Formats: sequence, structure tokens, C-alpha cells
Amino acid sequence: MGESNKGAGACYPQRSCLAPLPYDEHFAALDQLLRVQRPLWDNQPFTQQTLSWEADYPELSAWLRAQSLEHAEKYQLEPWRALKGLGSLFLENMYLTPLTQYPAKPLPEAMTRGIPGRKWQQIESFASCLPPDWQGSRWLDWCAGKGHLGRRLAWPDDSLCCIEHDAVLVAAGKQLSQQWKVQASHPHCDALGEHAVTHVSGSDTWVALHACGDLHTHLLRHTSTQSVRRLAVAPCCYNRIRADHYQPLSKLGRASALKLDRRQLGLPLQATVTAGAGEVRKRNRIMAWRLGFDALQRQWRGVDEYLPLPSPASHWQHDTFPDWCLAAAAHKGIQPRPVSDWQVAEQAGWQRLAQVRNLELVQGLFRRPLEFWLLLDMALFLQEQGFSVQLGEFCPQSLTPRNLLLLAER
Ligand SMILES: C[S@@+](CC[C@H](N)C(=O)[O-])C[C@H]1O[C@@H](n2cnc3c(N)ncnc32)[C@H](O)[C@@H]1O
Repeated sequence: MGESNKGAGACYPQRSCLAPLPYDEHFAALDQLLRVQRPLWDNQPFTQQTLSWEADYPELSAWLRAQSLEHAEKYQLEPWRALKGLGSLFLENMYLTPLTQYPAKPLPEAMTRGIPGRKWQQIESFASCLPPDWQGSRWLDWCAGKGHLGRRLAWPDDSLCCIEHDAVLVAAGKQLSQQWKVQASHPHCDALGEHAVTHVSGSDTWVALHACGDLHTHLLRHTSTQSVRRLAVAPCCYNRIRADHYQPLSKLGRASALKLDRRQLGLPLQATVTAGAGEVRKRNRIMAWRLGFDALQRQWRGVDEYLPLPSPASHWQHDTFPDWCLAAAAHKGIQPRPVSDWQVAEQAGWQRLAQVRNLELVQGLFRRPLEFWLLLDMALFLQEQGFSVQLGEFCPQSLTPRNLLLLAER
């Protein structure tokens, strides 16, 4: 069933003969796919011993459950390569027009000092997607951190306003803007508060790189009351919202029967492309231990039910599986029973981890469609506000998994 994984990072097969769909049609196609195939993605392999779709696809289920952890890791970023039959379900809807890249404006080399390499590459890629005639703007950098992106765009002569609520970042940003003589203001301000509106209205071009959940949708909503001319927004952390469910922005989005809660909104965030090998090994070990403990606690309690442990449990300083399990049992107030062979119990956790990760490949097929659904909802909303909109990837996924950019011009 599998196929060799030739590329580094996620890379969709090229569709040479078909043009990308208009956004409303693309949204409708994804909406239907996600609704009809819901059992395939709306599940929790880690906590559910059996998934509802497994009865409908017994061969696929048995095949996935027999694969190794290495298999799951190999195909994690490109699950359609391992699941070719199912993969064809969604590939038709995975194409976007590539964004035009413009030559980079040269900057003093020293301006990049102190900015982590990966962050700077993201900023450069983001900046290279903005048409040169955007120069001369009154820029707003929304949830700006130290304002590196805004300064990159405004230097040397444009004005800039960086909205940020972390006082330390605000102070550092101010100091850098003074050093590089950029006419920038750095208001210390909650982007979700009323006060932010004054800053928003003084700018004609808004950029936001990785503003989470409510922060990016809040900025987009401001377009309906402000006379902003241009926008470039790369959203992230869709699940960081105050409401229980995603509140669609566009008419089509609001009419959709797809209601996404915070857990479901976390699905597009599940692929790890930036973790190092050591980090992956450590995370796998704690996940295998959690699953090994899960099997034991079901026996100890006589209840066949997952028992959540708090996330700090992943950082408990126990070097062995038995010690960690006994600490987990004490934390949950469970009376442990004697374990005849701890090695076997630990091994069972690793085996279950391999099964979980392989079953997650099916869910993984829907990460990007769900993310596209969200971004297309935002794109359609901007079109309703009179913007001409482009949605595309501003950098490879290996640089940041949140690599989708909305470009809009009134
Ligand atoms: C993921 S960081 C991105 C920072 C910057 N745009 C970049 O790409 O380097 C998100 C930023 O949003 C800021 N932030 C979070 N909540 C905020 C709020 N309510 N108002 C203003 N800024 C906020 C955080 O302090 C952080 O600097």
C-alpha cells in the first residue's frame, strides 16, 4: 500500500491540466468532503481503542495496525503517499495558485542580527510575496512581537505601528526601531481590546504573521468597519479562541453545517515538521508510557475507559516506566496492582503507540483540507468586503507548517 517518500517536507503532486477552483467552489467542495468523510477525521486514536471507521475499512485498519512506528513517522507529513486509495479523495481539492515572488528589498545586514534564522527566513518569504507597489504604506504589524516583520517592510522611509501586548517585546521593539531610525510606534496594547481600533484606523496596510486564533479573525473583522487598502495575513493556532466553536466569517461559512470545536480546530496543527530527532524520541517515549499506563489503569480500575493525565505528567522526572506509572497512579488516586512483567507492559505501550500513529495517518489526510476550509472562509469574507484576494503558500512547510498567506487588496 505504501510508496517511497521521495521529498523532504510536504509536497503535493502537481496538477498540470486543471486550474485551481474559484474560492466559493473550492470551499463548497471541501465543505462537502469534510462533512461526508467526518468519521475518518473526527476521532481520537490516542484515547479511543477502536475508531468508528475501522468497521467500514477492515483491511485498511488491519494493515495500519500492523505497521511500525517508523512507518507512521515516514508518512506523517505526506499521508496520501501511504494511503493512495483514500488519498485520491482529497488531492483534487489541494491546489492553490502559486503566489508571485518579488525580488527582496536589500536591507543592512546588521538589521537581521539577533533574529532566529528560521524566523528571519519566514519574514523574508512573507515579505517577498508583497507586491513592490505596497511600499510607501502606513504599515500595521498586528501582534508584532518585537516588530521584525513590520520593520523589514517599513524600512527605511515608511511609517509603522506595531501592536503587541507583551511589555518586554514592546520595549525591545521600540529600541530596535529607534536604532534603525524607522518611524514606528509600539503601543502596548491588547489587540482584542477597544483601544486597538485607533491604531488600526491610522494604517492603510495590515500585516499579521502568526497571530493566533481570535487575534487573526479579529483583525479580519475590522475590515468591515475600516478603510484599510491592503492586507497580508498568515494565521496560526486556529484553536486559540474564546468561543466554544469557530465562528465562520463568510456567508458560505456561516451557512455550513460544519461546526468546529477547539479540539477539531487543533487538527491542522498536529503535524510536526520542525522537531529535532532528540525531541521526537523524547516525545515518543512519554507517549508510549502514557499508553502503557492507560492499559494498566484499565485493568487496575476494572474500567475500560481512557483516563486523562495532566500535561505536566510528560515532564515528571522519572527515569523508568514503573516509577512513572506509579506516580501517575498516585496522582489519579488509583490503587496499583502487582505487574508480573513491567517490560512487557512497557512494550505494549510502544506497540499501541505504533498503532495510534499509523491510524492517525488517515486523520492526517484531512489536516490540510480543514486548514484550507478555514482560510477559504476568511478569503470569501474578504471578497465580500470588496477585496481582491489571493491565498497561497508563502514558504515551504519545512520552514513553518503554518505557511498559508492571505493577500488582499481593495
Ligand atoms: C506567534 S507570536 C508572532 C509574533 C510576530 N508576529 C512574529 O511572527 O514574530 C504571537 C504574538 O502575539 C502576541 N499577542 C498575543 N495575544 C495578544 C493580544 N491579545 N494583543 C496583542 N498581542 C498579543 C504575543 O505576545 C506574540 O508576540
